[in-house]
This record gives sequence, C-alpha cells and structure tokens, in this order.
Amino acid sequence: MKVEEWIAELADVERELSVRLANAQDVSQVEDVRVWALGRKAGRVTSLMRRLRDLAPEDRPRAGDAVNSAKVRIERALDGPIVGSGNRQPTLPAIDVTLPGRRPPRGSLHPLTQVRRRIEEIFVGLGFRIEQGPEIEDEHHNFEALNTPADHPARDMQDTFYLSGHFLLRTQTSPVQIRLMETSRPPIRAIMPGRVFRRDSDATHSPMFHQVEGLLVDSGVTMAHLKGALMSFLTAFFGEGTRARFRPSFFPFTEPSAEVDIACVLCMGAGCRVCKGSGWLEVLGCGMVDPEVFRAVGYDPESVTGYAFGMGIERLTMLRYAIDDMRLLFENDHRFLEQF
Ligand code: FA5
Ligand code: MG
Repeated sequence: MKVEEWIAELADVERELSVRLANAQDVSQVEDVRVWALGRKAGRVTSLMRRLRDLAPEDRPRAGDAVNSAKVRIERALDGPIVGSGNRQPTLPAIDVTLPGRRPPRGSLHPLTQVRRRIEEIFVGLGFRIEQGPEIEDEHHNFEALNTPADHPARDMQDTFYLSGHFLLRTQTSPVQIRLMETSRPPIRAIMPGRVFRRDSDATHSPMFHQVEGLLVDSGVTMAHLKGALMSFLTAFFGEGTRARFRPSFFPFTEPSAEVDIACVLCMGAGCRVCKGSGWLEVLGCGMVDPEVFRAVGYDPESVTGYAFGMGIERLTMLRYAIDDMRLLFENDHRFLEQF
C-alpha cells in the first residue's frame, strides 16, 4: 500500500468524524462515534494503525506521526461540547455537572478547642466577657499581687518555668485578673481562657495546659452568687442533674476558698479507679477575692466584693469524654482526634 493512499484515508476518517460528531445529539451518540473511530476491534483509526505494517518501512514514521496527531485532534473533538445537528443550540456539556463531586478531606476542631468554645459560650450566656493576658508574666502579676509572697511554696523552682530577670511562664490564668482590675473599674464580669505552664508531667498533668479563669467584682457579691454561677455552668456543661459539692480548700488569693467536685462521671458516685474510690472528681478551684488582692490593684476592699474561679480545660475535656490519659490530647494522633 502506498503511503499517500493511507494518509488520504486517514483524512477521510477525520472528515467523516466531524460530520458524525456534528450530528451526535447526546452523550451516547458521541460514544458511538468514539467506538466508530477508535474502537479496539473495528475502529477506523485502529484498523489504519494495524495497516501501518503494510507500508514500506521508510514510510512508516511519517504515517505514524500523521496518525498520532490525528488521534489527539479526534480525542479533543470527542471530549468537546456536543453541538447537536443543524442550527440547534448546544444541548449537553461534555462535563457532567450532575455527578457528585469528590470531597476534600476535612479536619475538625481539636477537642480542647471545642471544650474551650463550649465553656466560653456558657459564660457569655451568663453575661461574662472574654479577656486575655500574656503567657510571659512577671512575678508581680503571677504571684505577689495574688497574695503569694516570695517564700510561698508555689514559687518553688520545681513548679515554675523561670525566664531571665523577674519573668516567668505564667503558672495560672489568675494574673489576668490582676491585669484586668489594674486597667478597669468594677463592675467586672469576665472569663479569661489561656495556656499556662508548670514543671509537671504524668497521665493527669501536662507541662503546658489550659485554664479558664473567672472573675466577678461588684458590691454585695456573696459565696451564694459564686455557687449559683458555677452550678449553672456545671449543669450546662455536664448535663441536667449533675451533682456537685463545694469542699473547703486554700488559695492565697481567695478567702474563703473552695474546690468543686462533681460526682464521678464514670461510676456516678459509686467509687471506681478514675475517682480513686471516692465517687468525686475535682473540677475547679474558686473562692471570694481576698482583700489583699483588691488592695494590690488599688480597690477599696470595704466597698467592693467579688468571686473568682479557675478550671483546667484538659480536666473538663477528660471528664466529658472519659479520656483516661491527658497526653492523648497533645500527641496529635489522627486516630484519636478523628473521634471528636
Ligand atoms: C489554680 O491554678 C488557681 N489559680 C485556680 C483558682 C483561680 C482558684 C481563681 C481560686 C480562684 P490549681 O493549681 O488547683 O489552681 O489548678 C486549677 C486546675 O488546673 C486544676 O483543677 C486542674 O484541673 C488544672 N491543672 C493543674 N495542674 C495541671 C497540669 N499540670 N496539667 C493539667 N491540668 C492541670
Ligand atoms: Mg488543685
């Protein structure tokens, strides 16, 4: 066979293909044209390619180039929009926009972020504002103004990460109380979420963890107000019917002070491994703002009263989702995080 004839036949195929395509009305008719041209058994282009070997060896490269570029044009034409016959408007696009899309993988908020947002939502609902303070603090705000003098055990090198000079990584969110009172006047009603740092590390303690501080200052504030606000919070957070108890405790910056326990979320108070048989789990510390703290920020303790509280976000997260090791919250293992 002569190469000129072969190439003329290829041109015929391309011409006929454009006529057939122009007449195709829908996707299945386009598919018929595709089989007619490129079908593996009887496609016109396919059989031309089979007959490449009938050409003289020196003509084959030229024919091969011709058929390869024809195939590119043909495939492009087959994938293009369906024009329909005559003067009809385009009917179907070649891309089927009704096919469901491929979903990109989606992450989710870290459980600690979800819990922090939930805590914020509840307190904002109770009329509290959200405030923030620095993670690098000075001894004055983290300790002294909070009635924690230099010889207090909490200031031991074993608990606190000291930086140079009088700076340190805050060990609690309580210094934000001081900064807030230094820069505003009562009434104050705010929560202060943030990261805190201590030299502490095991299954229930992390060197970096999160607290939410609460502060309310006004006149005539009592422990009953504190108890009411915290019970509203605990009921909203852990659910209706949550049992809690206020247990006397000590903090340098509150007097009287209390720690709040809830009935163990795993054994409902019967006593188990998680609550160490007591039936109760500590969730936060709180108390009435100590007059010394008011003096440190220039408030008159005779005319203002207030309460404060501080809770650990990791602790609340572990109780809410029954997580028995705090380190899981910081390892960023997808198998763990995907459950939230
Ligand atoms: C305080 O930090 C006080 N500032 C709380 C407070 C504020 C009391 C205002 C009164 C008024 P405490 O050291 O107990 O208190 O810590 C509070 C909570 O932080 C604990 O109940 C616990 O949930 C959490 N916590 C303490 N240490 C760690 C740690 N290493 N890792 C994770 N959570 C911790
Ligand atoms: Mg404690």
